[in-house]
This record gives sequence, C-alpha cells and structure tokens, in this order.
Amino acid sequence: MPVTDPHSVTAALHQRRSIRKFTGQPVDQALLRDIFAAAQRAPSGGNLQPWQATVLTGAPWAAVKDAVAARLAMGREGYQPEYDIYPKGLTDPWETRRFGVGEGLYAALGIPREDKAGRLAQFVENYRGFGAPVMLFLHCSRIMGPPQWSDMGMWLQSVMLLLVEAGLASCPQECWAMYGKTVRETLALGDDQILFTGLAIGYADEDAAVNQWPVPRVGLDEVIDWQGF
Ligand SMILES: Cc1cc2nc3c(=O)[nH]c(=O)nc-3n(C[C@H](O)[C@H](O)[C@H](O)COP(=O)(O)O)c2cc1C
Repeated sequence: MPVTDPHSVTAALHQRRSIRKFTGQPVDQALLRDIFAAAQRAPSGGNLQPWQATVLTGAPWAAVKDAVAARLAMGREGYQPEYDIYPKGLTDPWETRRFGVGEGLYAALGIPREDKAGRLAQFVENYRGFGAPVMLFLHCSRIMGPPQWSDMGMWLQSVMLLLVEAGLASCPQECWAMYGKTVRETLALGDDQILFTGLAIGYADEDAAVNQWPVPRVGLDEVIDWQGF
C-alpha cells in the first residue's frame, strides 16, 4: 500500500523500526502519559487489559542496568530466563529469518562473523538499552496465558506506533527476560509477575548505521492463505 498520507497508520507502520542507538535527549513524561493513555484503546480478549508496565528514567533505570551488568559478568551462570524466548529446536523457515536479522545487523556495522568480541560488544549494548533515556518493562500476572500475551503484543505495537507519531523511537527488547528475576527484584515486582519484554524509548540517532539497514519481511504468499476469493 503506497504511503500517500504521512500521518496515516500506514506511514507509521513503515516508519517504525527497532532503533539500536539513541541520542541522550530526555523524554517528556507528559508526552509518554498521553501515549499510554491512547494505547489503553488497544483491544484485549474479554477486555482484560492484562498489560502492566514499569517505566523508568534516571536513577531507577541506572539501577536496573547496574544490577543486570552484575549478572552478565557471571557468564551463563547469571542467566535467569523468565521463559523460552524462542522455541527449543527452532526450525525453518523461522530459524533462517532469525539468523538473517542478526547477519543484517552485524553487516550494517561491519562486524564479521569471526569478530566474536565485536559481536558480543554490540549484543551487550542491549543491556544498556542502546543508550535510551527511558526504559519500559512490560509484564503481567503470571497466571496469564497465550491469549493475554498476545494482548500485551497489541498494546506494545500500539505504544510503538504512537511513539513514532510523537517523533520518538523505540526498540522492543525481550533480552531482558534472560535476567528476569534481577529485573523484577530491582523493580520491586513480586514473583506473581512475569516479565515479557523491555522497550527502549528515546530519540533515534538518525545518522547511526545501526539504525539504517533494511529489515526485510517475507512475501504475503508465505503467510496468507486466501480461500474463497
Ligand atoms: C517482543 C520483541 C522483542 C524483541 N527483542 C529484541 C532484543 O532483545 N534485542 C534486539 O536488538 N531486538 C529485539 N527485537 C527487535 C526485532 O529483532 C525486530 O522487531 C525485527 O527484527 C524486525 O525489525 P524492525 O523492528 O526493525 O522492523 C524484539 C522485537 C519484539 C517484537
């Protein structure tokens, strides 16, 4: 669908991308409040509105980064996965898509496969929120199941599109779920909550190569099965 109206949902969908380098420019809390108020219009099965979010800046955000950095320093011993981020034994076509996005990212940054330290350093940027001044942690009650997790996704995309409309950028980051317990403890969330994902929020560094490479999508034939048309 051609983007004729720059203020359309279509335009916002095309403009949104995962931003992995932010400027240090702070984000106005009132603007975020408006965005979350609008995102409350997201649909949810039974109108449960299961999403809950903790939004951080300044010292509380620094505290999460510090706490998770200490776990990272422990290597694999430090992992505290909240859930399997990907299914075990992911097969094609999904594994190829997943591999492709990683390769696209590292190619944009000129980090070859042999440069393990370079790739790791870029990955660790995740745990600094790519320099974002605001971090949103999206969580819900642990009793919720797949339908409610899908509701969280609809809320998340609503927030991301509204951020685009406001001139802001974001990166969803489920990598934080690798250290879920530490994140939850630092946020004073009980074990009755499960952490789904982080969302780094801020203003994009438009010049950064990491924010400019194309992230392709598969063709409609791979995902839509038309019947009766
Ligand atoms: C729930 C969710 C979690 C994600 N977690 C991460 C993450 O931890 N780190 C990261 O760099 N990108 C993460 N991404 C971004 C995806 O890689 C990205 O959405 C996908 O490659 C499509 O690219 P685009 O968002 O730029 O269009 C996540 C995306 C979603 C929706």
